[in-house]
Amino acid sequence: MSKKVRTAVFPVAGLGTRFLPATKAMPKEMLTVVDRPLIQYAVDEAREAGIEHFVFVTGRNKGVIEDHFDRQFELETTLKERGKTKALEELQADLPIAGQASFTRQQEPLGLGHAVWCARDIVGNEPFALLLPDMLIKATPGALKQMMKAYHQNSGNIIAVEEVDPNDVSSYGIVGRGAGEDEAFKIDQMVEKPTIKDAPSNLIISGRYILQPEIFELLGSHIKGAGGEIQITDAMQKLLKTQDFTGVKFDGKTFDCGSKIGFLTANVAYALDRDDIKGDFMSELLNILSAKK
Ligand code: G1P
Repeated sequence: MSKKVRTAVFPVAGLGTRFLPATKAMPKEMLTVVDRPLIQYAVDEAREAGIEHFVFVTGRNKGVIEDHFDRQFELETTLKERGKTKALEELQADLPIAGQASFTRQQEPLGLGHAVWCARDIVGNEPFALLLPDMLIKATPGALKQMMKAYHQNSGNIIAVEEVDPNDVSSYGIVGRGAGEDEAFKIDQMVEKPTIKDAPSNLIISGRYILQPEIFELLGSHIKGAGGEIQITDAMQKLLKTQDFTGVKFDGKTFDCGSKIGFLTANVAYALDRDDIKGDFMSELLNILSAKK
């Protein structure tokens, strides 16, 4: 039986240069889709999948993320006094239970692989989930929950994958398809940001992983890859020699909120799904669109 995945790692140390000036003083993970920050969506998805411990790998200027997952007594008192019990309950439900969140710092921006390695002592010798908050996945059940099902069937390592336009492969980690079904198959290679010519497929790594702890030792060699950064994809490619990796094509829609288009369309899609605003939002949107024609 596969060992339970209790911990999730959230790398949130990135500089967010693609969203300047918005991200000059504010972490990119706090950008909001409707009224929830990106990092909250990732935490909600992890919690839904049964995660009990949330590990944030932060960096300088990321203190707000820690505050976001803390209680705010002044605010709570004001909401209570004003009788806004629903808002108060919702705020409290978003929080990890005391002791369920850990924060560590990546002191230098050396790449995603290095950020994950920074969490090694907190995660320990257990399988863990890794969620990149930039990749917002709208899915029911959530993408990680869907992956957990595959994990219990296949054990080993699980990677969420999806197809993209072949012209976009060089922006992502790409997997090669081995044996298996379309929805869950053995991965036979992984390469970070290949050229179109070198890409083994158009299946991207969608920012959700379930990994075995042996990855930490490989990350510890600190070998630089694509973009001069320590890449998690390179360490996974090495681990592939001794462990299975299963690619899971989840059912859902991904918004790459690391790009402006992804972020803006996420806002539209999530707003159109919200009972409290969708009617008004839709008519405003239609007005804007018809004025543009
Ligand atoms: C990272 C990973 C890449 C993955 C991508 C998903 O790249 O290295 O394999 O496909 O996230 O967003 P980054 O976006 O940090 O450059």
